[in-house]
Amino acid sequence: MQSYGFVGTGELTAAIVEGLNEDVAVFLSPRNHDIAHDLAERFPTVEVCRDNQDVLDRANTVVVAVRPQVVRTVLTELTFRPEHVVVSAVAGTTLAQLREWAAPAHRIIRSIPLPTASRRASRTALYPGDPAARELFDRVGDVVVPADEATLATFSAATATFSAHLAQLAAVAGWMADHGVTAEDADAYIAHVFGELGRTLAGHGGTLGELARKHETPGGINEQFRTTTQNDDRTRQALDEVLARLTNQ
Ligand SMILES: NC(=O)c1ccc[n+]([C@@H]2O[C@H](COP(=O)([O-])OP(=O)(O)OC[C@H]3O[C@@H](n4cnc5c(N)ncnc54)[C@H](OP(=O)(O)O)[C@@H]3O)[C@@H](O)[C@H]2O)c1
Repeated sequence: MQSYGFVGTGELTAAIVEGLNEDVAVFLSPRNHDIAHDLAERFPTVEVCRDNQDVLDRANTVVVAVRPQVVRTVLTELTFRPEHVVVSAVAGTTLAQLREWAAPAHRIIRSIPLPTASRRASRTALYPGDPAARELFDRVGDVVVPADEATLATFSAATATFSAHLAQLAAVAGWMADHGVTAEDADAYIAHVFGELGRTLAGHGGTLGELARKHETPGGINEQFRTTTQNDDRTRQALDEVLARLTNQ
């Protein structure tokens, strides 16, 4: 049976483990205690290990999913084998750093799994396109492999836009509530409308620009709202700043 280890059992690991089917064995590091034990209780093929080293001793492919601030300390305290495949999900930590901290392991892959891995719907950007990492993330969705590490950072920066989108929807629902709709109805309405729009988006074969144009009438209210609120220059500048942070410029 294929086995996967996870160092760092937080939100992201929980999403990936939920999405993995029961044909794989999963070895979890004991932190976070509650999340690790909850997963082990729910899935018979999931086991909580004694410590991080125990994870490495029991699995050949190891996903590193701790926060960027602690990754160096966590990895340098561990003893890797040359045959370990190390799949990092840690934002902004480079292949060069990971190679140094996880030596003598040399199959090192960076990845950007999405929380939708929990329902096997994560399109995971990863680099390089190692077959073991592809196999893991194909189990919880599908995979995109950019041309190089610098381009992977572009994918990472794009994922920084989630909360801005959701916060804009919250603002629209909040405005509705200020104008007579109950807060519950407003949230449910906006969640429904944009949930369905997400399905349209996922099934759309053409460009995003075409889809946007299909949703507005020249001179209509969608165009009015878009032209007053949209600021492409600010969006691009904010993404440049996120990218600079991710690449330590
Ligand atoms: N969430 C996402 O959607 C997402 C997507 C792509 C990439 N990422 C990346 O994935 C990483 C994890 O993100 P997350 O959202 O899952 O964060 P998180 O929920 O904070 O999970 C991190 C986990 O690491 C544990 N931890 C801390 N120190 C540890 C140690 N010494 N040994 C083992 N485990 C330790 C923490 O345990 P305690 O709770 O006990 O401190 C926590 O459960 C981050 O680097 C992030 O950049 C996240």
